[in-house]
Amino acid sequence: MAIRFDGKVAVITGAGSGLGRTYALEFAKRGAMVVVNDLGSSRDGSGANSSAADAVVEEIKKGGGKAVANYDSVATVQGGENIIKTAMDAFGRVDIVVNNAGILRDKTFVKMTEDEWDIVLAVHLRGAFCVTAPAFKIMREQGWGRIIFTASGAGLYGNFGQSNYASAKMALVGLMNALKLEGAKYNILVNTIAPVAASRMTEDVLPKEIFEKLKPEYVTPLVMYLCSDECKDTGMIFNCGGGWYSRTAIMCASGTIIQGKGEITAEDIMAQWSKITDLSDAKPLNNIGDTFAYMAPLLK
Ligand code: NAI
Repeated sequence: MAIRFDGKVAVITGAGSGLGRTYALEFAKRGAMVVVNDLGSSRDGSGANSSAADAVVEEIKKGGGKAVANYDSVATVQGGENIIKTAMDAFGRVDIVVNNAGILRDKTFVKMTEDEWDIVLAVHLRGAFCVTAPAFKIMREQGWGRIIFTASGAGLYGNFGQSNYASAKMALVGLMNALKLEGAKYNILVNTIAPVAASRMTEDVLPKEIFEKLKPEYVTPLVMYLCSDECKDTGMIFNCGGGWYSRTAIMCASGTIIQGKGEITAEDIMAQWSKITDLSDAKPLNNIGDTFAYMAPLLK
């Protein structure tokens, strides 16, 4: 069965280039009406240019699809509201939001300035809030929504020289974890991807031979599926790059219970360290309340 988005409206931030552009084109091909948002900034977030979003809208229209451009920055509340207003004015609804806009200001932590910290957090994390918040209200009323956050292996696993970016990307997992619960009753599903793809963001980081193999078009199918009516999963994180797709998760292991001696000492922790750090029975939890099951014997 083909996955289609006929009658649905998809808002893609940062859709003027790289990954976002491929999502916009594919959503349109599959019948969605698309808002192509892009500030048209350079990789470090400086500058603005409407031509990036316009070119993608042109491409969609040439192919017979429906799309409208928006040039607001995701990083302000006003910008986020305008992006969603663009969808409402042009198409009357918002069903899908792919939070994809992003920038880099790489520096080792000792050299990281306040500005470099703030702007990266503003685009990735604040941007996700500013765009998703007005859309979430509409999705709640509709009783249907699909939201994607774009994390990164840099945040999930670590990357030298990206403390600002890694923090912002990991924070999106926290945002997803809250929204998957707040959206569940309204059929709003929220998932996170950690892509690896050839784009201007990675062109001077990845070796050429590898860069060529990591087509952004390989990330697109996962985004399509996660935004479809057919997908019923929420609150999940996925690695994807070059044709590799895998779920990754924050997991909790059963660990060990230390009790019965009144006081628990640092030496008790040291003695039990291999059990405390053992991940062999780890599993993902649905919410914070699930951690109480592990403490249950202590809470009787
Ligand atoms: P890209 O640089 O080709 O695309 C990002 C787009 O976002 C650009 O067109 C830019 O103009 C736009 N943008 C930047 N700031 C904006 C703002 N304030 N408001 C609206 N638009 C803005 O980069 P790429 O690789 O396509 O990245 C897309 C997303 O994927 C980003 O969130 C990035 O952090 C993430 N990502 C990419 C990876 C990769 O391997 N390419 C790896 C991990 C994450």
